[in-house]
Amino acid sequence: MAIEWFPGHMREARKEAAETLRKTDVVLEVLDARVPFSSCNPGIEELRRKLQRPALKILNKQDLADPERTREWLAYYNAQPGVRAVALSAKQGPSVKRLPERALALAPHRARPAKPLRMLILGIPNVGKSTLMNSLLRRSVSKVGNEPALTKHQFGHDLGNHMWLVDTPGMLWPDIEQRAALKLAATHSIGPAAYDPVEVAAELARYLLDNYAELFTRRFPVAAPSASGPDLIAEIGRLRSLLGKGGVPDLARAARTLLGEFRDGTLGKISLESPAQLPPPVQGAPHSGAATG
Ligand code: G4P
Repeated sequence: MAIEWFPGHMREARKEAAETLRKTDVVLEVLDARVPFSSCNPGIEELRRKLQRPALKILNKQDLADPERTREWLAYYNAQPGVRAVALSAKQGPSVKRLPERALALAPHRARPAKPLRMLILGIPNVGKSTLMNSLLRRSVSKVGNEPALTKHQFGHDLGNHMWLVDTPGMLWPDIEQRAALKLAATHSIGPAAYDPVEVAAELARYLLDNYAELFTRRFPVAAPSASGPDLIAEIGRLRSLLGKGGVPDLARAARTLLGEFRDGTLGKISLESPAQLPPPVQGAPHSGAATG
């Protein structure tokens, strides 16, 4: 089953974000540390590079990701011109406080009365952007003003110290590549109405046995680790006594069990992709040019 998810309001929000990007000094991009590549919106990233806006890539949910993979991702992004990356857990708070300062390091000539630092925060659904925003606004040194909506979908926040943050809603994009879509379904960035949980869980089970066999078998001691994804889901059903009529494994419940344990970290710290699987980073023109004016 092909996964497609691009509701109309996201189309509008994407258009508005593209317009705001032109008046932005630094982009704060919230990514899911388990899938930093797949959780990056490629259309916005392309425009950001074209406009040469620096980016702070925030690898959120680091508490759920494989620390070794996260180190590799940080090195991958930090090698790119005009990009700095940081891994954190928005739920745990303290590191969020330093984000404005880190963003300012990418546009050091801003944050003055005549030239405020204009930041735009982006992220696909469920990467933890709202959690991060709540933490950021609560921790802001000065009094934070929640300004009225700038556009139908955007809100502005005065962070004090001549720093201004525009918040956008979670946006996906049309024609998500299917391998990325499966990962985004597994991490819950794509809602369950758009995919078959058994298919997503079957792919996840096979990946986990190939890459995190010890973590997987600790929770699900399957008899045949080389079995196909769908057979693994059936076995999870048997192992957890999730059975339907006639004692047949209930695949939907078994799939939800595996997805749930992956999502909440019960399985362990797991990443679904690594920079080694990607082509070398594009070494485009330096992204030093924050917006002027
Ligand atoms: P969004 O605005 O990008 O859509 O994401 P949101 O902040 O609503 O967060 C989506 C889910 O991710 C929430 O879980 C939130 O608690 C969780 N989350 C956010 N940041 C982190 C993090 O750093 N680590 C972990 N482990 N989880 C994080 P939820 O299940 O919807 O709600 P809750 O029961 O966890 O509150």
